[in-house]
Amino acid sequence: MSVAELDELLDLADDIILHPEAYRERCKYKKLATLFFEPSTRTRLSFETAMIDLGGSVVGFESGSSSSASKGESIRDTVQVVGGYVDVIAMRHPFEGAAVAASQFSPVPVINAGDGGHCHPTQTLADLLTIRKELGRLNNLTIGFCGDLRYGRTVHSLINAMVRYEGVSFVLISPEELTLPEYVTAMLDSKNIPYKVVDSLEDAIPELDVLYMTRIQRERFEYDSLYEAVAGRFILRQAMLQKAKPEMRVLHPLPRVDEIAVDVDTDGRAAYFRQTWYGKIMRMALIIKMLDSVGILPESKNWVRTDKECKNTRCVTYRESDNVPYSYKAEDGTERCVYCDHVLD
Ligand code: CP
Repeated sequence: MSVAELDELLDLADDIILHPEAYRERCKYKKLATLFFEPSTRTRLSFETAMIDLGGSVVGFESGSSSSASKGESIRDTVQVVGGYVDVIAMRHPFEGAAVAASQFSPVPVINAGDGGHCHPTQTLADLLTIRKELGRLNNLTIGFCGDLRYGRTVHSLINAMVRYEGVSFVLISPEELTLPEYVTAMLDSKNIPYKVVDSLEDAIPELDVLYMTRIQRERFEYDSLYEAVAGRFILRQAMLQKAKPEMRVLHPLPRVDEIAVDVDTDGRAAYFRQTWYGKIMRMALIIKMLDSVGILPESKNWVRTDKECKNTRCVTYRESDNVPYSYKAEDGTERCVYCDHVLD
């Protein structure tokens, strides 16, 4: 999305907050399917309540084990079937690029509600609205990301969005094992976006406008011992906010484990529970826009079919290789998988 498209969505969200009654029947007779192959509290329930508040209806499942995926049905077949029942699909899946794959076979729009450790774009919409509401701007911000920057899909998507705004820089605070994936740093470098890597959360806090805390994504580790080695490394406590700017905001996509002590919750700078509410509003705005755009073909993308396999074992093409065609996009002379952004070699 361009800044103009993001602004349009954010402005629509503002209007929904001001005039909720005007939207009560906006999606009457429309149906949303929430296809969640991974656990969720906020994303699924906020999508569902968003559609209900728009006057529409919701169907779906909350785990792969309660769907026919457990019998071996592919993503490709699932969305072709469900797309015949509903008007829009929100899908969460453990494979990277699953929503992009689904969108190629679905007769209705597919919204990515999280694809493995790759992206979580609708969380980013919630984050953008939160920052704009709380700080009044999306430019000229120093944003600190702390925790699991490797598997934290919300971090990847928020960085991807924030680089569209002027005067934004990043401070990256993580265990060495959990630094940003190559495709994110390559994007930052190609756009000359300023960022620095530091190892002390406490020392970083005074310069930040936004501190984005994240959970270590235990479910993405191959062995629990690897998780244990990094768990609990960074914990934000209220006392550490003494040196923070008065207007700084602490965001977290949630769920939290132990990375924010509960004594932070009562500090006015803690915005993470307000952020969950903004998430529902942004999902209302997104559903409206998606349904309004049905029939309008998206801008053609520079995607090229290829025989080259993606070697990323978490990529949807690796996990469902018979059903998803390999494709790449050329970025700065590099061929990247369109699903998971890994370099094809
Ligand atoms: N932020 C987020 O994605 O939360 P859930 O996993 O509960 O949906």
